[in-house]
Amino acid sequence: MSITIAVHSCKGGTGKTSIAVNLAGVYAASGKDVCLLDLDSKAPYLSSIFNVRSKQWINDVLFGKCNVTDVIYDISDEIGTKGKLYLGLSNPNIIAIREISSKDRKWQAKALQIIMDAKRDLISAGMDIIILDTGPGVDFSSINAVAVTDYVVIVVKPNKPCMVGTEQVVNGVYKLLNKKCGIVENMCHETHFLKPLSITLFDVPVLASIPCMCDVQLKTDTGILALEESKHTFSDSIFKIADKILEQTD
Ligand SMILES: Nc1ncnc2c1ncn2[C@@H]1O[C@H](COP(=O)(O)OP(=O)(O)O)[C@@H](O)[C@H]1O
Ligand SMILES: [Mg+2]
Repeated sequence: MSITIAVHSCKGGTGKTSIAVNLAGVYAASGKDVCLLDLDSKAPYLSSIFNVRSKQWINDVLFGKCNVTDVIYDISDEIGTKGKLYLGLSNPNIIAIREISSKDRKWQAKALQIIMDAKRDLISAGMDIIILDTGPGVDFSSINAVAVTDYVVIVVKPNKPCMVGTEQVVNGVYKLLNKKCGIVENMCHETHFLKPLSITLFDVPVLASIPCMCDVQLKTDTGILALEESKHTFSDSIFKIADKILEQTD
């Protein structure tokens, strides 16, 4: 069975991309064939983490110019994982960002169909896990990604604006779409890490509370900290999150 996971949050800068990348690496290391797609087309940073010279982008797929399988790149040899890890990148060129940011609701409705087709094609191509790194908030591009997934990892920073926003998104989006989800509290103060805020937040299970650790930001060689330093506290949380998602989607 294949699982599609979106990593989403109500606000930017919560750690979505870091968590998506590391989850993808951990699943690939465990032998699963994984595809990580950058669906944060308005702020596409996956291309800055990995040294892939992309000629075609997710943008081209969303504009109907090619198929998702034409824009994914296998990086498993470079990172040495047992399973395959494919990346699909969004175009970081400023003109491309502006072009996709200007699209209206009607275009986004078409994009939803394209993302559903892309998911089907990736499953047919043998992917065990598809991870969608999304943009923050509730605009159509983010919700399209959430809509096609089996599981949503909701990343929150434990501060009031993020908590209030998350409660709204849980009640106004995930519950309406009937999505299975789990919360990751990221960049917590140590006291929260040692004693997690709660087992559930807004009736959603808390998968992990990850402390704020400056060295998470340091550039890794491969871009995937969990594969380079498996004993790091951040990595340890990622392994636990990966296991819990599999348990909850079983
Ligand atoms: N637990 C953490 N501790 C410290 N810094 C973190 C942690 N998680 C992520 N970061 C850093 O926070 C910044 C934003 O993370 P990123 O994954 O790009 O967030 P988003 O995709 O939600 O915008 C990055 O510099 C990242 O390295
Ligand atoms: Mg991001």
